[in-house]
Amino acid sequence: MVTNRRIAVFGAGYVGLVSGACFAELGHHVVLRDVLPGRVEALRNGEIPIYEPGLEELVARNRDRLEFTTDVAVAVQGADVVYVAVGTPPTYSGDADLSAVWTVIDELPRLDHRIVLVMKSTVPVGTGAKVRAALDARGLTNVGYVANPEFLAEGTALRDFMHPDRIVVGAADAADTETVASLHSGLDAPVVRTDVNSAEMIKMASNAFLSTRISFINEIANVCELVGADVTAVAEGMGLDHRLGSHFLKAGIGYGGSCFPKDISALKQLAGNSGYHFQLLSSVIEVNELQKRRVIGKLQKHLGGLRGTEVALLGLSFKPGTDDMREAPSLVLASRLLAEGAGVRTWDPVADASELLPSARQFATVEEAVEGADAAVIVTEWPALADLARPEIRDLMGRPLIIDGRNLLDPDKARAGGFDYEGMGRPWTPPSPSPDRRNHPPPPGK
Ligand SMILES: NC(=O)c1ccc[n+]([C@@H]2O[C@H](COP(=O)([O-])OP(=O)(O)OC[C@H]3O[C@@H](n4cnc5c(N)ncnc54)[C@H](O)[C@@H]3O)[C@@H](O)[C@H]2O)c1
Repeated sequence: MVTNRRIAVFGAGYVGLVSGACFAELGHHVVLRDVLPGRVEALRNGEIPIYEPGLEELVARNRDRLEFTTDVAVAVQGADVVYVAVGTPPTYSGDADLSAVWTVIDELPRLDHRIVLVMKSTVPVGTGAKVRAALDARGLTNVGYVANPEFLAEGTALRDFMHPDRIVVGAADAADTETVASLHSGLDAPVVRTDVNSAEMIKMASNAFLSTRISFINEIANVCELVGADVTAVAEGMGLDHRLGSHFLKAGIGYGGSCFPKDISALKQLAGNSGYHFQLLSSVIEVNELQKRRVIGKLQKHLGGLRGTEVALLGLSFKPGTDDMREAPSLVLASRLLAEGAGVRTWDPVADASELLPSARQFATVEEAVEGADAAVIVTEWPALADLARPEIRDLMGRPLIIDGRNLLDPDKARAGGFDYEGMGRPWTPPSPSPDRRNHPPPPGK
Protein backbone atom coordinates (compact mmCIF):
# COMPACT_ATOMS: atom_id res chain seq x y z
CA MET A 1 0.00 0.00 0.00
CA VAL A 2 1.32 3.46 -0.90
CA THR A 3 1.91 5.79 2.04
CA ASN A 4 1.62 9.25 0.60
CA ARG A 5 4.34 11.52 1.88
CA ARG A 6 5.34 15.12 1.66
CA ILE A 7 8.57 15.35 -0.30
CA ALA A 8 10.79 18.40 -0.74
CA VAL A 9 13.00 18.37 -3.83
CA PHE A 10 15.94 20.77 -4.02
CA GLY A 11 16.68 21.55 -7.66
CA ALA A 12 14.01 21.85 -10.35
CA GLY A 13 16.20 20.88 -13.30
CA TYR A 14 16.03 17.84 -15.57
CA VAL A 15 16.20 15.38 -12.67
CA GLY A 16 14.46 17.30 -9.89
CA LEU A 17 11.52 18.38 -12.00
CA VAL A 18 10.99 14.97 -13.57
CA SER A 19 11.40 13.15 -10.23
CA GLY A 20 9.13 15.62 -8.45
CA ALA A 21 6.41 15.36 -11.08
CA CYS A 22 6.67 11.55 -11.09
CA PHE A 23 6.49 11.35 -7.28
CA ALA A 24 3.37 13.54 -7.50
CA GLU A 25 1.98 11.13 -10.07
CA LEU A 26 2.60 8.34 -7.55
CA GLY A 27 0.40 10.23 -5.09
CA HIS A 28 2.94 12.13 -2.97
CA HIS A 29 2.78 15.84 -2.26
CA VAL A 30 5.92 17.44 -3.68
CA VAL A 31 7.43 20.86 -3.08
CA LEU A 32 10.13 21.76 -5.57
CA ARG A 33 12.63 24.32 -4.43
CA ASP A 34 15.00 26.08 -6.80
CA VAL A 35 17.34 29.04 -6.39
CA LEU A 36 16.30 30.57 -9.72
CA PRO A 37 13.29 32.84 -9.09
CA GLY A 38 12.50 32.99 -12.82
CA ARG A 39 12.37 29.20 -13.03
CA VAL A 40 10.08 28.95 -10.01
CA GLU A 41 7.81 31.69 -11.32
CA ALA A 42 7.59 30.00 -14.73
CA LEU A 43 6.74 26.66 -13.12
CA ARG A 44 4.02 28.28 -11.05
CA ASN A 45 2.56 29.58 -14.32
CA GLY A 46 2.60 26.10 -15.81
CA GLU A 47 5.62 26.82 -18.04
CA ILE A 48 8.22 24.06 -18.25
CA PRO A 49 11.78 25.44 -18.44
CA ILE A 50 13.24 22.36 -20.14
CA TYR A 51 12.22 20.26 -23.12
CA GLU A 52 11.27 16.76 -22.02
CA PRO A 53 8.51 14.87 -23.84
CA GLY A 54 5.35 14.49 -21.72
CA LEU A 55 6.61 16.58 -18.81
CA GLU A 56 4.31 19.53 -19.37
CA GLU A 57 1.25 17.28 -19.34
CA LEU A 58 2.49 15.38 -16.27
CA VAL A 59 3.05 18.60 -14.32
CA ALA A 60 -0.36 19.93 -15.38
CA ARG A 61 -2.08 16.69 -14.39
CA ASN A 62 -0.54 16.78 -10.91
CA ARG A 63 -0.86 20.49 -10.20
CA ASP A 64 -2.71 19.82 -6.96
CA ARG A 65 0.19 17.85 -5.57
CA LEU A 66 3.01 20.09 -6.84
CA GLU A 67 4.27 23.33 -5.31
CA PHE A 68 7.17 25.51 -6.41
CA THR A 69 9.18 27.80 -4.18
CA THR A 70 12.53 29.49 -3.69
CA ASP A 71 12.04 29.37 0.07
CA VAL A 72 13.85 26.61 1.97
CA ALA A 73 11.53 26.88 4.97
CA VAL A 74 8.43 26.47 2.79
CA ALA A 75 10.01 23.49 1.04
CA VAL A 76 10.90 21.52 4.15
CA GLN A 77 7.85 22.51 6.19
CA GLY A 78 6.19 19.22 7.15
CA ALA A 79 8.39 17.22 4.75
CA ASP A 80 9.28 13.62 5.61
CA VAL A 81 11.83 13.35 2.88
CA VAL A 82 14.15 15.94 1.33
CA TYR A 83 15.64 15.10 -2.05
CA VAL A 84 18.80 16.73 -3.37
CA ALA A 85 18.70 17.04 -7.17
CA VAL A 86 21.07 19.93 -7.77
CA GLY A 87 23.75 19.97 -10.46
CA THR A 88 27.18 18.43 -9.89
CA PRO A 89 29.14 19.74 -12.88
CA PRO A 90 32.84 19.04 -13.42
CA THR A 91 35.52 21.28 -11.99
CA TYR A 92 38.64 22.19 -13.96
CA SER A 93 40.37 19.21 -12.33
CA GLY A 94 37.71 16.82 -13.62
CA ASP A 95 36.38 16.12 -10.12
CA ALA A 96 32.68 16.70 -9.41
CA ASP A 97 31.83 20.22 -8.21
CA LEU A 98 29.71 19.58 -5.12
CA SER A 99 29.27 23.23 -4.14
CA ALA A 100 25.51 23.19 -4.85
CA VAL A 101 25.16 20.02 -2.76
CA TRP A 102 27.00 21.64 0.16
CA THR A 103 24.81 24.72 -0.13
CA VAL A 104 21.74 22.53 0.34
CA ILE A 105 23.29 20.87 3.39
CA ASP A 106 24.16 24.28 4.85
CA GLU A 107 20.67 25.59 4.13
CA LEU A 108 18.85 22.74 5.86
CA PRO A 109 17.11 24.23 8.88
CA ARG A 110 16.93 22.54 12.27
CA LEU A 111 13.65 20.65 12.36
CA ASP A 112 11.71 19.28 15.28
CA HIS A 113 10.81 16.13 13.38
CA ARG A 114 12.95 13.47 11.76
CA ILE A 115 13.52 13.72 8.02
CA VAL A 116 15.42 11.64 5.52
CA LEU A 117 17.82 13.52 3.26
CA VAL A 118 18.10 11.68 -0.06
CA MET A 119 20.89 12.24 -2.57
CA LYS A 120 19.64 11.96 -6.14
CA SER A 121 22.42 14.07 -7.60
CA THR A 122 25.30 12.00 -8.96
CA VAL A 123 28.13 12.32 -6.46
CA PRO A 124 31.53 10.64 -6.04
CA VAL A 125 31.78 7.67 -3.72
CA GLY A 126 32.45 8.93 -0.22
CA THR A 127 30.18 11.96 -0.50
CA GLY A 128 27.52 10.39 1.71
CA ALA A 129 30.02 9.85 4.50
CA LYS A 130 31.10 13.49 4.24
CA VAL A 131 27.49 14.69 4.25
CA ARG A 132 26.78 12.52 7.30
CA ALA A 133 29.74 14.08 9.11
CA ALA A 134 28.60 17.59 8.15
CA LEU A 135 25.06 16.91 9.38
CA ASP A 136 26.37 15.53 12.65
CA ALA A 137 28.70 18.51 13.07
CA ARG A 138 25.66 20.77 12.77
CA GLY A 139 23.82 18.69 15.34
CA LEU A 140 21.32 17.49 12.72
CA THR A 141 21.29 13.97 14.10
CA ASN A 142 17.56 13.63 13.38
CA VAL A 143 18.31 13.80 9.66
CA GLY A 144 18.77 10.37 8.08
CA TYR A 145 20.86 10.02 4.92
CA VAL A 146 20.12 7.88 1.89
CA ALA A 147 21.78 7.59 -1.51
CA ASN A 148 19.15 7.03 -4.21
CA PRO A 149 20.93 7.69 -7.52
CA GLU A 150 18.93 8.49 -10.62
CA PHE A 151 19.28 6.55 -13.87
CA LEU A 152 16.80 8.40 -16.08
CA ALA A 153 17.90 9.51 -19.53
CA GLU A 154 16.80 12.80 -21.03
CA GLY A 155 14.29 12.34 -23.83
CA THR A 156 12.82 9.25 -22.14
CA ALA A 157 12.96 10.56 -18.58
CA LEU A 158 9.32 10.01 -17.62
CA ARG A 159 9.27 6.44 -18.84
CA ASP A 160 12.64 5.76 -17.20
CA PHE A 161 11.41 7.06 -13.85
CA MET A 162 8.06 5.29 -13.92
CA HIS A 163 9.45 2.03 -15.33
CA PRO A 164 12.99 1.80 -13.97
CA ASP A 165 15.22 -1.23 -14.40
CA ARG A 166 16.03 -0.96 -10.71
CA ILE A 167 15.78 1.37 -7.76
CA VAL A 168 19.00 1.70 -5.80
CA VAL A 169 18.75 2.66 -2.15
CA GLY A 170 21.90 2.96 -0.07
CA ALA A 171 21.69 3.79 3.63
CA ALA A 172 23.19 3.04 7.00
CA ASP A 173 19.76 2.84 8.64
CA ALA A 174 17.32 0.12 7.60
CA ALA A 175 14.29 2.26 8.46
CA ASP A 176 15.54 5.06 6.18
CA THR A 177 16.07 2.51 3.42
CA GLU A 178 12.46 1.41 3.73
CA THR A 179 11.18 4.99 3.79
CA VAL A 180 12.82 5.70 0.45
CA ALA A 181 11.93 2.31 -1.01
CA SER A 182 8.28 2.88 -0.06
CA LEU A 183 8.18 6.19 -1.95
CA HIS A 184 8.44 4.07 -5.08
CA SER A 185 5.55 1.76 -4.21
CA GLY A 186 3.55 1.19 -7.33
CA LEU A 187 6.63 0.94 -9.53
CA ASP A 188 7.41 -2.51 -10.80
CA ALA A 189 11.17 -2.71 -10.30
CA PRO A 190 13.64 -4.54 -8.10
CA VAL A 191 14.99 -2.50 -5.21
CA VAL A 192 18.71 -2.85 -4.60
CA ARG A 193 19.21 -2.23 -0.87
CA THR A 194 22.81 -1.54 -0.07
CA ASP A 195 25.19 0.76 1.79
CA VAL A 196 25.77 4.39 0.80
CA ASN A 197 29.20 3.91 -0.79
CA SER A 198 28.01 1.01 -2.94
CA ALA A 199 24.91 2.93 -4.09
CA GLU A 200 27.12 5.85 -5.12
CA MET A 201 29.45 3.46 -6.98
CA ILE A 202 26.56 1.71 -8.77
CA LYS A 203 25.68 5.03 -10.43
CA MET A 204 29.26 5.95 -11.36
CA ALA A 205 30.12 2.45 -12.61
CA SER A 206 26.92 2.21 -14.67
CA ASN A 207 27.64 5.41 -16.56
CA ALA A 208 31.28 4.46 -16.98
CA PHE A 209 30.31 1.09 -18.43
CA LEU A 210 27.75 2.55 -20.84
CA SER A 211 30.34 5.04 -22.06
CA THR A 212 32.85 2.23 -22.45
CA ARG A 213 30.44 0.39 -24.72
CA ILE A 214 30.06 3.51 -26.86
CA SER A 215 33.79 4.08 -27.18
CA PHE A 216 34.29 0.37 -27.87
CA ILE A 217 31.83 0.27 -30.76
CA ASN A 218 33.22 3.54 -32.09
CA GLU A 219 36.68 2.01 -32.24
CA ILE A 220 35.23 -1.07 -33.94
CA ALA A 221 33.57 1.34 -36.41
CA ASN A 222 36.88 3.01 -37.14
CA VAL A 223 38.48 -0.35 -37.87
CA CYS A 224 35.46 -1.34 -39.97
CA GLU A 225 36.14 1.66 -42.20
CA LEU A 226 39.68 0.45 -42.80
CA VAL A 227 38.83 -3.18 -43.48
CA GLY A 228 35.57 -2.75 -45.38
CA ALA A 229 33.03 -3.97 -42.81
CA ASP A 230 29.75 -2.33 -41.80
CA VAL A 231 29.56 -1.55 -38.09
CA THR A 232 25.77 -1.46 -38.09
CA ALA A 233 25.72 -5.13 -39.16
CA VAL A 234 28.52 -5.91 -36.73
CA ALA A 235 26.63 -4.29 -33.84
CA GLU A 236 23.46 -6.14 -34.77
CA GLY A 237 25.29 -9.43 -34.82
CA MET A 238 27.03 -8.69 -31.53
CA GLY A 239 23.89 -7.42 -29.84
CA LEU A 240 21.95 -10.62 -30.45
CA ASP A 241 24.34 -12.39 -28.10
CA HIS A 242 22.41 -12.38 -24.82
CA ARG A 243 25.67 -11.96 -22.92
CA LEU A 244 26.22 -8.64 -24.72
CA GLY A 245 22.80 -7.18 -25.48
CA SER A 246 22.22 -4.54 -28.12
CA HIS A 247 22.08 -1.36 -26.07
CA PHE A 248 24.75 1.30 -26.39
CA LEU A 249 26.34 -0.37 -29.39
CA LYS A 250 25.52 2.38 -31.88
CA ALA A 251 28.57 3.81 -33.54
CA GLY A 252 28.57 7.54 -34.14
CA ILE A 253 30.37 10.71 -33.27
CA GLY A 254 30.66 9.99 -29.58
CA TYR A 255 28.74 10.58 -26.41
CA GLY A 256 28.04 13.94 -24.82
CA GLY A 257 25.50 15.38 -22.46
CA SER A 258 25.41 16.47 -18.88
CA CYS A 259 26.18 13.06 -17.40
CA PHE A 260 28.56 10.72 -19.20
CA PRO A 261 31.51 13.08 -19.73
CA LYS A 262 31.46 14.47 -16.21
CA ASP A 263 30.62 11.22 -14.43
CA ILE A 264 33.39 9.29 -16.17
CA SER A 265 35.82 12.04 -15.45
CA ALA A 266 34.69 12.10 -11.82
CA LEU A 267 35.21 8.34 -11.49
CA LYS A 268 38.63 8.54 -13.11
CA GLN A 269 39.61 11.34 -10.73
CA LEU A 270 38.10 9.52 -7.75
CA ALA A 271 40.22 6.48 -8.57
CA GLY A 272 43.29 8.68 -9.05
CA ASN A 273 42.68 10.54 -5.79
CA SER A 274 42.42 7.15 -4.10
CA GLY A 275 45.74 5.97 -5.57
CA TYR A 276 44.52 3.95 -8.55
CA HIS A 277 45.13 4.77 -12.22
CA PHE A 278 41.93 3.79 -14.04
CA GLN A 279 43.61 3.17 -17.38
CA LEU A 280 40.54 1.89 -19.23
CA LEU A 281 38.54 5.04 -18.49
CA SER A 282 41.37 7.24 -19.76
CA SER A 283 41.09 5.44 -23.09
CA VAL A 284 37.30 5.67 -23.15
CA ILE A 285 37.55 9.43 -22.72
CA GLU A 286 40.31 9.83 -25.31
CA VAL A 287 38.48 7.71 -27.88
CA ASN A 288 35.37 9.83 -27.41
CA GLU A 289 37.26 13.08 -27.87
CA LEU A 290 38.86 11.85 -31.09
CA GLN A 291 35.58 10.43 -32.34
CA LYS A 292 33.89 13.84 -32.33
CA ARG A 293 36.59 15.08 -34.68
CA ARG A 294 36.42 12.27 -37.21
CA VAL A 295 33.71 14.13 -39.08
CA ILE A 296 36.22 16.87 -39.84
CA GLY A 297 38.51 14.33 -41.52
CA LYS A 298 35.60 12.98 -43.55
CA LEU A 299 34.63 16.47 -44.68
CA GLN A 300 38.23 17.19 -45.68
CA LYS A 301 38.36 13.95 -47.64
CA HIS A 302 35.37 15.07 -49.70
CA LEU A 303 35.83 18.82 -49.85
CA GLY A 304 39.57 19.28 -49.57
CA GLY A 305 40.34 22.37 -47.49
CA LEU A 306 37.35 23.56 -45.52
CA ARG A 307 38.12 27.28 -45.70
CA GLY A 308 35.26 29.02 -47.44
CA THR A 309 32.99 25.99 -47.47
CA GLU A 310 29.53 25.99 -45.91
CA VAL A 311 28.65 23.07 -43.66
CA ALA A 312 25.18 22.41 -42.27
CA LEU A 313 25.13 20.76 -38.84
CA LEU A 314 21.77 19.08 -38.40
CA GLY A 315 20.85 18.50 -34.77
CA LEU A 316 22.60 20.33 -31.96
CA SER A 317 21.42 18.83 -28.68
CA PHE A 318 23.58 16.01 -27.38
CA LYS A 319 20.87 13.55 -28.33
CA PRO A 320 17.32 13.62 -29.68
CA GLY A 321 14.39 14.30 -27.38
CA THR A 322 16.11 17.00 -25.35
CA ASP A 323 17.22 20.61 -25.69
CA ASP A 324 20.24 19.95 -23.47
CA MET A 325 23.42 21.31 -25.05
CA ARG A 326 25.77 20.38 -22.23
CA GLU A 327 28.87 18.69 -23.72
CA ALA A 328 27.05 18.26 -27.03
CA PRO A 329 29.38 16.94 -29.78
CA SER A 330 27.87 19.63 -32.05
CA LEU A 331 29.77 22.27 -30.06
CA VAL A 332 33.13 20.62 -30.70
CA LEU A 333 32.29 20.04 -34.35
CA ALA A 334 31.13 23.60 -34.93
CA SER A 335 34.18 25.04 -33.20
CA ARG A 336 36.54 22.88 -35.25
CA LEU A 337 34.78 23.82 -38.48
CA LEU A 338 34.90 27.52 -37.65
CA ALA A 339 38.59 27.19 -36.81
CA GLU A 340 39.15 25.59 -40.22
CA GLY A 341 37.51 28.60 -41.85
CA ALA A 342 34.22 26.94 -42.77
CA GLY A 343 30.87 28.67 -42.44
CA VAL A 344 28.58 26.79 -40.06
CA ARG A 345 24.84 26.62 -40.60
CA THR A 346 22.77 24.83 -37.97
CA TRP A 347 19.31 23.44 -37.34
CA ASP A 348 17.70 21.84 -34.32
CA PRO A 349 13.99 21.43 -33.54
CA VAL A 350 14.32 22.47 -29.89
CA ALA A 351 17.88 23.39 -28.88
CA ASP A 352 19.05 26.96 -29.24
CA ALA A 353 22.76 27.45 -29.79
CA SER A 354 22.74 31.18 -30.50
CA GLU A 355 24.62 31.99 -27.28
CA LEU A 356 26.97 28.99 -27.32
CA LEU A 357 27.79 29.30 -31.02
CA PRO A 358 27.44 33.00 -31.89
CA SER A 359 29.48 32.59 -35.08
CA ALA A 360 27.22 29.88 -36.49
CA ARG A 361 23.95 30.72 -38.21
CA GLN A 362 20.96 28.81 -36.85
CA PHE A 363 17.99 28.23 -39.15
CA ALA A 364 14.40 27.34 -38.35
CA THR A 365 14.09 24.61 -40.98
CA VAL A 366 16.33 21.88 -42.36
CA GLU A 367 15.72 23.23 -45.85
CA GLU A 368 17.06 26.67 -44.94
CA ALA A 369 20.05 25.17 -43.13
CA VAL A 370 21.19 23.08 -46.10
CA GLU A 371 20.53 25.68 -48.79
CA GLY A 372 23.74 26.15 -50.76
CA ALA A 373 25.71 24.04 -48.26
CA ASP A 374 28.69 21.97 -49.37
CA ALA A 375 27.83 19.26 -46.89
CA ALA A 376 25.12 18.29 -44.43
CA VAL A 377 26.22 16.52 -41.27
CA ILE A 378 23.71 14.56 -39.20
CA VAL A 379 24.94 15.34 -35.71
CA THR A 380 21.85 14.37 -33.68
CA GLU A 381 19.51 11.66 -34.94
CA TRP A 382 16.27 13.61 -34.69
CA PRO A 383 13.45 11.63 -36.37
CA ALA A 384 12.79 14.61 -38.65
CA LEU A 385 16.13 13.88 -40.34
CA ALA A 386 15.22 10.31 -41.29
CA ASP A 387 14.11 11.45 -44.76
CA LEU A 388 16.96 13.87 -45.30
CA ALA A 389 18.08 12.16 -48.52
CA ARG A 390 15.14 13.44 -50.52
CA PRO A 391 15.26 15.21 -53.88
CA GLU A 392 14.27 18.59 -52.46
CA ILE A 393 17.29 18.58 -50.15
CA ARG A 394 19.62 17.39 -52.91
CA ASP A 395 18.49 20.22 -55.15
CA LEU A 396 18.85 22.82 -52.40
CA MET A 397 22.41 21.87 -51.47
CA GLY A 398 25.41 23.37 -53.18
CA ARG A 399 26.95 19.90 -53.16
CA PRO A 400 24.86 16.84 -52.31
CA LEU A 401 27.14 15.43 -49.62
CA ILE A 402 25.78 13.87 -46.44
CA ILE A 403 28.04 12.86 -43.58
CA ASP A 404 25.83 10.76 -41.34
CA GLY A 405 27.35 11.02 -37.88
CA ARG A 406 24.66 8.77 -36.40
CA ASN A 407 24.15 6.19 -39.16
CA LEU A 408 20.53 7.31 -39.37
CA LEU A 409 20.06 6.93 -43.13
CA ASP A 410 20.04 3.95 -45.45
CA PRO A 411 23.28 4.37 -47.43
CA ASP A 412 21.95 2.70 -50.58
CA LYS A 413 18.85 4.87 -50.66
CA ALA A 414 20.87 8.01 -50.05
CA ARG A 415 23.26 7.14 -52.90
CA ALA A 416 20.39 6.18 -55.18
CA GLY A 417 18.90 9.60 -54.40
CA GLY A 418 21.96 11.28 -55.85
CA PHE A 419 23.85 11.99 -52.64
CA ASP A 420 27.45 11.30 -51.88
CA TYR A 421 26.91 9.58 -48.54
CA GLU A 422 29.29 8.60 -45.80
CA GLY A 423 28.35 7.22 -42.40
CA MET A 424 30.41 6.12 -39.42
CA GLY A 425 32.03 2.69 -39.73
CA ARG A 426 30.22 1.87 -42.96
CA PRO A 427 31.93 1.18 -46.27
CA TRP A 428 32.16 4.26 -48.45
CA THR A 429 31.94 3.84 -52.18
CA PRO A 430 33.04 6.74 -54.34
CA PRO A 431 30.11 8.21 -56.29
CA SER A 432 29.91 7.37 -59.95
CA PRO A 433 32.01 9.86 -61.90
CA SER A 434 30.27 13.00 -63.08
CA PRO A 435 31.83 16.13 -64.52
CA ASP A 436 30.88 18.29 -61.55
CA ARG A 437 28.88 17.10 -58.55
CA ARG A 438 28.24 20.63 -57.44
CA ASN A 439 24.78 21.90 -58.11
CA HIS A 440 26.11 25.42 -58.25
CA PRO A 441 29.48 26.85 -59.26
CA PRO A 442 31.80 27.51 -56.33
CA PRO A 443 31.66 31.02 -54.92
CA PRO A 444 34.73 33.16 -55.55
CA GLY A 445 37.64 32.50 -53.25
CA LYS A 446 37.08 28.77 -52.79
N1 LIG B 1 20.22 15.19 -16.56
C1 LIG B 1 20.26 13.87 -16.50
O1 LIG B 1 19.95 13.18 -17.47
C2 LIG B 1 20.66 13.17 -15.23
C3 LIG B 1 20.39 11.80 -15.08
C4 LIG B 1 20.77 11.17 -13.90
C5 LIG B 1 21.41 11.89 -12.91
N2 LIG B 1 21.67 13.22 -13.10
C6 LIG B 1 22.31 13.95 -12.01
O2 LIG B 1 21.31 14.70 -11.33
C7 LIG B 1 21.85 15.94 -10.87
C8 LIG B 1 21.02 17.09 -11.42
O3 LIG B 1 21.17 17.10 -12.82
P1 LIG B 1 20.23 17.99 -13.75
O4 LIG B 1 20.55 17.62 -15.14
O5 LIG B 1 18.85 17.91 -13.25
O6 LIG B 1 20.81 19.44 -13.42
P2 LIG B 1 20.16 20.85 -13.79
O7 LIG B 1 21.28 21.78 -13.94
O8 LIG B 1 19.20 20.68 -14.92
O9 LIG B 1 19.29 21.23 -12.52
C9 LIG B 1 19.85 21.59 -11.29
C10 LIG B 1 18.92 22.60 -10.65
O10 LIG B 1 19.35 22.81 -9.31
C11 LIG B 1 19.14 24.18 -9.01
N3 LIG B 1 19.88 24.52 -7.79
C12 LIG B 1 21.19 24.84 -7.64
N4 LIG B 1 21.46 25.07 -6.35
C13 LIG B 1 20.32 24.86 -5.65
C14 LIG B 1 19.95 24.92 -4.28
N5 LIG B 1 20.83 25.25 -3.33
N6 LIG B 1 18.67 24.67 -3.94
C15 LIG B 1 17.76 24.34 -4.88
N7 LIG B 1 18.05 24.27 -6.19
C16 LIG B 1 19.31 24.52 -6.58
C17 LIG B 1 19.56 24.90 -10.26
O11 LIG B 1 19.08 26.21 -10.31
C18 LIG B 1 18.93 23.98 -11.34
O12 LIG B 1 17.63 24.38 -11.65
C19 LIG B 1 23.31 15.94 -11.30
O13 LIG B 1 24.10 15.47 -10.27
C20 LIG B 1 23.33 14.97 -12.47
O14 LIG B 1 24.57 14.37 -12.64
C21 LIG B 1 21.29 13.87 -14.22
